[in-house]
Amino acid sequence: MATLTWQGRTIACGDESVLDALAREGVTVPSSCRAGACQSCLVRAVAGTAPSSAQKGLRASLVEQGFFLACQATLTDDLTAAPADDLPVTRATVLRVERAADDVARVFLRTDGAFEARGGQFVHVMRDDGLTRPYSLANRSGDGSLELHVRRVAGGAMSPWLCDLAAGATLHLRGPSGECVYRRDRPTQPLVLAGTGTGLAPLLGVLRDALDAGHGAPITLVHGARTLAGLYEDDALRAMAARHPMVRYEPAVLDAPEGDPRRGDFRARVAAVVKATKGARVHLCGPPETLRPVQRDTFLAGVPLGDIAADLFVTAPSR
Ligand SMILES: Cc1cc2nc3c(=O)[nH]c(=O)nc-3n(C[C@H](O)[C@H](O)[C@H](O)COP(=O)(O)OP(=O)(O)OC[C@H]3O[C@@H](n4cnc5c(N)ncnc54)[C@H](O)[C@@H]3O)c2cc1C
Ligand code: FES
Repeated sequence: MATLTWQGRTIACGDESVLDALAREGVTVPSSCRAGACQSCLVRAVAGTAPSSAQKGLRASLVEQGFFLACQATLTDDLTAAPADDLPVTRATVLRVERAADDVARVFLRTDGAFEARGGQFVHVMRDDGLTRPYSLANRSGDGSLELHVRRVAGGAMSPWLCDLAAGATLHLRGPSGECVYRRDRPTQPLVLAGTGTGLAPLLGVLRDALDAGHGAPITLVHGARTLAGLYEDDALRAMAARHPMVRYEPAVLDAPEGDPRRGDFRARVAAVVKATKGARVHLCGPPETLRPVQRDTFLAGVPLGDIAADLFVTAPSR
């Protein structure tokens, strides 16, 4: 059985993940999805080799420094690891929180000092008690102004707290992370941006980045919702489409009244848009149960994997 050495303690690791082995010993490492999607559980190998299977999706610079995802790591060889305390953390102040829909808030933040991030990347919001969750950026940032869209999950540990923050409150951010970003080296490739719920946030980040860069090809944004109230950026997206002739906004609302042009099935709508848009790069964001089938459809429709950028909002299963 392989042994994990962690801050002077020796922990035997069987088939369980490093995250679970640490938890068994009473050591808490921040975590969120427990599925390799969110990077909340980063730790660092300081002696021995980090399991490469637990480094998928990490930036090359993190891999080079020995970082790995504790929830994805099972050990076959002995390893000494340490918390990711040396990753930079930025303090941010809440500027305002706006109610966008019954269960969605826009949270506007300003970091202390500059904060370079691309629209569509995500940041880890860290609370003082160590609770950590990833949230996507609806804007590109250089000066440290950030916009998050947060869906209030009933009974959730982080999202209700974030939605109820008052202006002036402070929190900490790690990141940015993620590759679901606008490709500035592909200014003439059509874009299809599709998501449901707050999956709109990273798509809006990509759209804003594309427009800032003077993107020169059609951009179609499909926002899916169950009810019309779920189209929480309807007016702003209509206005954007009116201002920019290359932008098409296609809402798909399951329960919209008969005859309302916004009525439609999200999966079918995205399939039709993908079919009609040759050579597109396709961004898919939102809850995995809705987006995974769309990801599969998109691949089967002939879009190469390298042209599908997906950020699935994977959450930990209830325990
Ligand atoms: C890369 C990435 C980017 C993300 N970006 C965003 C974003 O921009 N906006 C956003 O709102 N969220 C985003 N999320 C999800 C976010 O990180 C949290 O998982 C979410 O806010 C729930 O956290 P919580 O602490 O409130 O709930 P938790 O305490 O983690 O969960 C409480 C319970 O609710 C269940 N649950 C959690 N989320 C959901 C859900 N969506 N639907 C149904 N049940 C759920 C859990 O399984 C658990 O049983 C993102 C996730 C990832 C991986
Ligand atoms: S990647 Fe490990 S908890 Fe999300």
